[in-house]
Amino acid sequence: MKTGGLTGISWEAFHALPLEEKRPYLERRGGRGEPFHTLFAQQFDRPLLERLAALSNRIRFLSKSKDGALWLKSLLCHKRAMLYFSQPSSRTFLSHLAACQILGLTTGSVRDTSISSEFKGESKEDSIRTFSSYFDMIIMRTPEQGLAEKMSWELSNSERPVPILNAGSGKDQHPTQALLDIYTLLRSFETKGGLHDRTVVFCGDLLRGRTVHSLSYLLTNFPRIKQVFVAPPQLQADESTFAALRAKGVEFEVSDDLRSVVPLADAVYMTRIQDEWDAAKGDSAKIDTSRFKFGAEELALLPENGIIMHPLPRRDEIAVCCDHDPRAMYWRQMRNGMWIRAALIATTFGFEDEILARPL
Ligand code: NCD
Repeated sequence: MKTGGLTGISWEAFHALPLEEKRPYLERRGGRGEPFHTLFAQQFDRPLLERLAALSNRIRFLSKSKDGALWLKSLLCHKRAMLYFSQPSSRTFLSHLAACQILGLTTGSVRDTSISSEFKGESKEDSIRTFSSYFDMIIMRTPEQGLAEKMSWELSNSERPVPILNAGSGKDQHPTQALLDIYTLLRSFETKGGLHDRTVVFCGDLLRGRTVHSLSYLLTNFPRIKQVFVAPPQLQADESTFAALRAKGVEFEVSDDLRSVVPLADAVYMTRIQDEWDAAKGDSAKIDTSRFKFGAEELALLPENGIIMHPLPRRDEIAVCCDHDPRAMYWRQMRNGMWIRAALIATTFGFEDEILARPL
């Protein structure tokens, strides 16, 4: 039986739908709302996020013992995953690779299209179709916004409807990063009253930072999370981010003064200036970003229970003197990414219940 959704609708009609209305088409058939293709943050609501967090915890725990780790490795040893990363990546690539290894999937990868047939003139569409002949899942990162979505439709309507995980698409979305960010927030506030009634400050390049776009949306699933956007005017989040918050009745604020908002923050989410998107080389360097960095003075202003996050890689937007502070969560965030990606892959293949049923 084919489990890959996204059939029964033309590409044009699907593409034109608002993101939230795309969710049902992307679900795993016969499931409980979990994704088959993971493309957008809009596919996740609070119950699903909490299910994924619980599954991540379980996988994390099972992995600690040899018996548990061997059992996890047996679950998907009959599946293969392709990692197609035509944009630079360290953490997202390696954590997906490690997640596959935890579950026993074997993997292949293309990271340099200059040594694949794309270099001979093969289209990306044909390349991805090729991967689906040999693999059972495609994890992909590309600079092209919308390619993962188009390929999901193509594959679902082919003889090999293999799932696609979007590991970063253009400036647009990075849903699995947002999942690990939410998992980190849930864990950080678990014993401190939970993820509600909080203030999350985003700082840096909020216009082109895809992690911000996806996380800003996911946070709307939790009650009374105020979002504060701190950026130089040229790099401030755009109207589509704010319109989505207004539509959900989420309180937000725009600022250009990090120091004034840090004392009110439960989490400060720092980001890198995404200058790879500059229209002309050096454009970003002309922007004064000196006030959008987190250092010793900001650390002194951060509440005791506040946390510092960053999707990484960082440049100088978080000073290394913050690294050993217990509130610096960016290293843990990275490791959380491996667990929640394993949970997402297991869920995509329908193994959630089996993992949760395994006695500890
Ligand atoms: C981010 C990305 O690629 O969007 N990195 C990541 O996946 N952890 C953020 C960035 O590159 O600045």
